[in-house]
Amino acid sequence: MTKPVLSNSEGAPQAVALSQRVHWIGVLDPNLRTFDIILKTANGTSYNSYVVRGSEGVAIIDTVKESFSGDFFARLESVARYDEIKVIVLNHLEPDHSGALPELMRRAPQARLYISQKAQSMLKALLKQDELEFTPVITGDAVSLGDRTLSFLHTPYLHWPDTQCTHLVEEKILFSGDVFGCHFCDTRLFNDEVGDFRFSFEYYYAHIMRPFKSYVNTALDLLDPLSPFKQILPAHGPLLRDQPQRYLQRYRELSRSALESDIGADEKTLLIFYISSYGNTRRMAEAIYEGAMSVEKVRVSLYDLEGGEITPFVDLIEGADGLLFGTPTINGDAVKPIWDLLSSLAVVNLKSKLGGVFGSYGWTGEGVKMVEDRLRGLKLRVPIPGIRIKLIPTDEEICQCREFGHELAQELLGLRTSKVIDLADLS
Ligand code: FEO
Repeated sequence: MTKPVLSNSEGAPQAVALSQRVHWIGVLDPNLRTFDIILKTANGTSYNSYVVRGSEGVAIIDTVKESFSGDFFARLESVARYDEIKVIVLNHLEPDHSGALPELMRRAPQARLYISQKAQSMLKALLKQDELEFTPVITGDAVSLGDRTLSFLHTPYLHWPDTQCTHLVEEKILFSGDVFGCHFCDTRLFNDEVGDFRFSFEYYYAHIMRPFKSYVNTALDLLDPLSPFKQILPAHGPLLRDQPQRYLQRYRELSRSALESDIGADEKTLLIFYISSYGNTRRMAEAIYEGAMSVEKVRVSLYDLEGGEITPFVDLIEGADGLLFGTPTINGDAVKPIWDLLSSLAVVNLKSKLGGVFGSYGWTGEGVKMVEDRLRGLKLRVPIPGIRIKLIPTDEEICQCREFGHELAQELLGLRTSKVIDLADLS
């Protein structure tokens, strides 16, 4: 295995050969520390772009962030002329990959742009250029470069709707876009040469791909018949030339549940999280727990946030059918542990899970409504208004909490009658 040389003897950026017909023309961004506001990048990242040379023309796969265009064009020019470029493929339209596209198309006006069908509206919104011409493609479409063929595979939601992979058929090379990528910057480029990037690969999956696990599995089903690949070349991070199948397998593992649960196929799961200042919200939680447990085929769990770490709870939440949150109201707000847990849920798919909120309060009790609004914002179903109780629950109010739990458990099983109890007005 040879180590890559990224610049020529005069220091000008140059392309790196990945095979006889494929070159890397990406750029390194070692100083980036935060990507897209939410992702940490301990040693920066790379924006990988590639050139494929066929007997009847050249293709460019993805471009780079606009501010890095200089190195990108220098590398491109070291291996191809602009008038040779027949095809430009964007696997994904985020600006870190489309930034240099307008200038590339200005320099290679004869080239045809290929993007996924789902990318069409995004292209105009991102680049603000109505006059850009392109060909939308779907899975199975292909473009010929003579003795080389690029075949397209739509892999939606990994991690945008537009995402696709491009397969260089004759060489069994997969240009995978963000998929199998990570934010890791290393001049040695290749996975068998760079430093230990495993943490970055897993971190990237957890934050970018995890919310779309079902789409990950669908994409892997699409890719599996084409494997084994000789190389997997993502849009960020190390180029996977050594045992690339391991990364496919790891995605498969990560998109499964960590441990098969003991919950029966005919059962539903309900998790109740609470935090309590003086024990009042805890009493409510326990009563709701009792009420929910009285319904067969619903497995109910009760957790005090004061005694748990957030990360394992996020894993539990991902697999649960229903989620209840109990919070006191302090200074007109729900309390921080509840918000911390909710803010950690961006990495899981919550759509259509059942949600509910409860809590004791002293003066005003806004916290319950605020959390309820947040659950709706996260796309949970909140079929019963939150239950609020002023200070210490009475025996009657404890009964109402039991009823609240019972009703929500029934709702999980689809057994709840149309009876609507507005428990928000109990206080
Ligand atoms: Fe690397 Fe989703 O952009």
